Amino acid sequence: MTPTTTPYQVISLCINGKSLRHEVATDMKLIDFLHEDLGLTGTKFCCGLGVCQACTVLVRSSHTALAEPMLACVTPVSALDGQLIDTVEGVVGPNGLASVQQAFLAHFAFQCGYCTPGFVMATVALLARLKVQPVHVAQLDEAIEAALGAHVCRCTGYARYHRAARELAMQVLRG
Ligand code: FES
Ligand code: FES
Repeated sequence: MTPTTTPYQVISLCINGKSLRHEVATDMKLIDFLHEDLGLTGTKFCCGLGVCQACTVLVRSSHTALAEPMLACVTPVSALDGQLIDTVEGVVGPNGLASVQQAFLAHFAFQCGYCTPGFVMATVALLARLKVQPVHVAQLDEAIEAALGAHVCRCTGYARYHRAARELAMQVLRG
């Protein structure tokens, strides 16, 4: 049998505000590209099956589009040609930590922290969505559950993550 060769493709991406062109194997997963080719190891690999959400990054088609959470462990990087990608390394505030990270700290949301980058990215996406598509306060818990409910935290910080996200979301809704 003739051995098959992996096809390669040159893609353009904008990652955390930096544009790049890169040759990638068409079946290379985004998380491997981030870790091995770019040295961005903040996005965590856990189940590798698209279940736990630890590997969540944000993807947009343009600077004005709403960012959508995407699972880096199951997404081939070649499928993201031309897209803008934000990882946890790009989430920073004026003095270091962004407000989402400060809120998670203040609420003691995490222990080992392995799930935290995924929760950070999902919460960033939720807050950005609430800015342009606000919900009634009565629907806020449901919106938070929709954004964070599938994320697995083996240290069981669920209620604290939810409280921290709710505090930030209320600030957004109050303007
Ligand atoms: S590592 Fe990607 S969903 Fe679990
Ligand atoms: S803080 Fe340990 S898995 Fe969530």
